[in-house]
Amino acid sequence: MAPIETDYMSLTRFVLSEQKKHPKATGDLTQLMNSILTAIKAISSAVRKAGIHKLFGVAGGSNVSGDEVKKLDILSNDLFVNMLKSSFTTVLLVSEENETAIEVEVENQGKYVVCFDPLDGSSNIDCLVSIGSIFGIYRKVSDDPVSEKDAFQPGREMVAAGYALYGSATMVVLSTGQGVNGFMLDPSIGEFILTEKDMRIKPRGKIYSLNEGYEQYWDEPTKAYVKSKKFPENGKPYGARYIGSMVADVHRTICYGGIFMYPATTQSPKGKLRLLYECNPMAFVVEQAGGMATNGHMRILDIVPTSIHQRTPIFLGSKEDVQEIIDLYKKQ
Ligand code: AHG
Ligand code: MN
Ligand code: MN
Repeated sequence: MAPIETDYMSLTRFVLSEQKKHPKATGDLTQLMNSILTAIKAISSAVRKAGIHKLFGVAGGSNVSGDEVKKLDILSNDLFVNMLKSSFTTVLLVSEENETAIEVEVENQGKYVVCFDPLDGSSNIDCLVSIGSIFGIYRKVSDDPVSEKDAFQPGREMVAAGYALYGSATMVVLSTGQGVNGFMLDPSIGEFILTEKDMRIKPRGKIYSLNEGYEQYWDEPTKAYVKSKKFPENGKPYGARYIGSMVADVHRTICYGGIFMYPATTQSPKGKLRLLYECNPMAFVVEQAGGMATNGHMRILDIVPTSIHQRTPIFLGSKEDVQEIIDLYKKQ
């Protein structure tokens, strides 16, 4: 029998040890992360037995972005909101599923602002393809009474960001601004265990990833870029992969290298993906892993938000691959 591990590096222990490096740390971030992990564990469990518990299918209605809302979206959002509100560490919550920002009751308020996409990739739920959750954490900086303006900070100000991937296993990938680490859920003990230390993204990959069905709607730099990957001068085309769940597509990009793109289209001139709870957290993790994230003209993490559900085009992944698309936009 294999010896039983007695010295696990759990995610909680990891965040605690990172916080201990800061002399003024209060332990609030650890507490906040624990509340997110509870939500993620419950979502993971729901995802795994969703069919049995009749969670598949449409709940009726649509969210603020007009998407079909699935039962799992609602369940995941309720879990995130309830766990975060009751953690005594948050003051403002911005969720994809709530039209307005949620202000935490005064008696429960803490210092953090959390933006999240509780269930990403919902079109993949019913066919058992990987889905995820995304979160970005900020400190409330102004002394004014809490309002959605507290979420209008550029992504570079994030204290921590990460995602959960409900794939062939459940994994949390987290950055507190000192690199990126991956934690696999061990269902036998209900803990996230550090399995991928200091994740780094290759400087160049061999995969491009975007919804190629929309080619007629792309702008010229995107068209030129994809053409150059399919018909390169060196005769070695890139492979194409597109899952349609941002978390899964970005996770693959971090693991294998390459580029993930959701460009502007003539139909959605600002792209589809949302800055606060999709693009910023993923850009933060990718940069922390040594990659890049841009909207074609500027760094994603430098965009100053003006509304909580705003969208942005995004190109992220291996540095050299992302630089090529930036160069094409410059030439325009
Ligand atoms: P969500 O399920 O949170 O609404 O997000 C879906 C997003 C994202 O995960 C994915 O990258 C993108 O939609 C796919 O969009 P297309 O179907 O237009 O390619
Ligand atoms: Mn999403
Ligand atoms: Mn979602």
